[in-house]
Amino acid sequence: MKKTAALFIAMIIVSVLVVSMNIVSQAEEKMDIDYLILVNKTHTLPEDWEENLETVHFTNSVGDDVEVEKKAYDAYLQLKDALEAEGVYVDLDSARRSVAAQQKIMDDFTEWYGADYAAKIVAKPGYSEHHTGLALDLYLIIDGEDIVENEDMIQYPEIWAKIHEKLADYGFILRYLDGKEHITGYAYEPWHIRFINDADTAREIMDEGITLEGYLGVVNETDVMIDYGTSALYTPEELEEAAIQIKCDFAFWDGCELHSLQYAGDESANEENVKWLNEIRDGAGYTQAVEFTGNYHSPVEAYGAWEPDMEYEDYQWWLARTEESGWEIVSTGY
Ligand code: DAL
Ligand code: ZN
Repeated sequence: MKKTAALFIAMIIVSVLVVSMNIVSQAEEKMDIDYLILVNKTHTLPEDWEENLETVHFTNSVGDDVEVEKKAYDAYLQLKDALEAEGVYVDLDSARRSVAAQQKIMDDFTEWYGADYAAKIVAKPGYSEHHTGLALDLYLIIDGEDIVENEDMIQYPEIWAKIHEKLADYGFILRYLDGKEHITGYAYEPWHIRFINDADTAREIMDEGITLEGYLGVVNETDVMIDYGTSALYTPEELEEAAIQIKCDFAFWDGCELHSLQYAGDESANEENVKWLNEIRDGAGYTQAVEFTGNYHSPVEAYGAWEPDMEYEDYQWWLARTEESGWEIVSTGY
């Protein structure tokens, strides 16, 4: 072979090698996602989130396809093994959800239970942590039976306690804590776990019993003092349900801190007030009402109608419900 021909072939080989190395490195170019990403009632999913997201699919025990972020899935499998060693069996009901899938859930829940109830348990499309692929909804398998419905799963606090104890070891936290609804914006969900890819940080968050919002410093981690007083009209559970409705809604009051809530007493729940609340929401058909009063602090950099950095005392929340629906917040203010 002539020297020039050999050189030509060598150049082609080198070019092919360079191009193929480039393709390989482009395929590997995905960067690590931010495992501490905050997606909540006031923080939407970043637009470029999917660019670096790698997921896996699997079929759960009830035959549904479930999509999970890759590392979260590996960690989940380890968690599942550790739980099985203690006789606790779980599977994944739902992990990554598209905005369209979240919209379908929101539409269904709104139709079945009303918008206010739905807002306590379902995130607005675009604002669900499930869009990240890092939020996993577990379900329980007890004596071979799949326990998937929320109202059934909630009946097993001892099993959830065993599960929660192990989460941090595998880089998971519990996301929607009992009592922190004013921060997370959602009612307690023992099944919704969140992968943060760091066991030490997860342990710190779980041991302190704080929210991701509190850990990241976007809110002051506070507890709300609640005084349910006494009532001959409502059970403690009914009053708690109303207080949770208020707390979930409060999570939208960006930058405000809720300090206390107090049941205003059965005298507020009179017919005249039920009539007044029905006038506000013409045709709602409310049959019962409750009033809570409470104290909260406005943001230092106030917006909207708030005075900056002020403690609002004895603020009023009025809720009402029909025979069928749950509590709705109808009026707030002084
Ligand atoms: N259930 C949680 C809040 C969601 O819908 O993302
Ligand atoms: Zn969930």
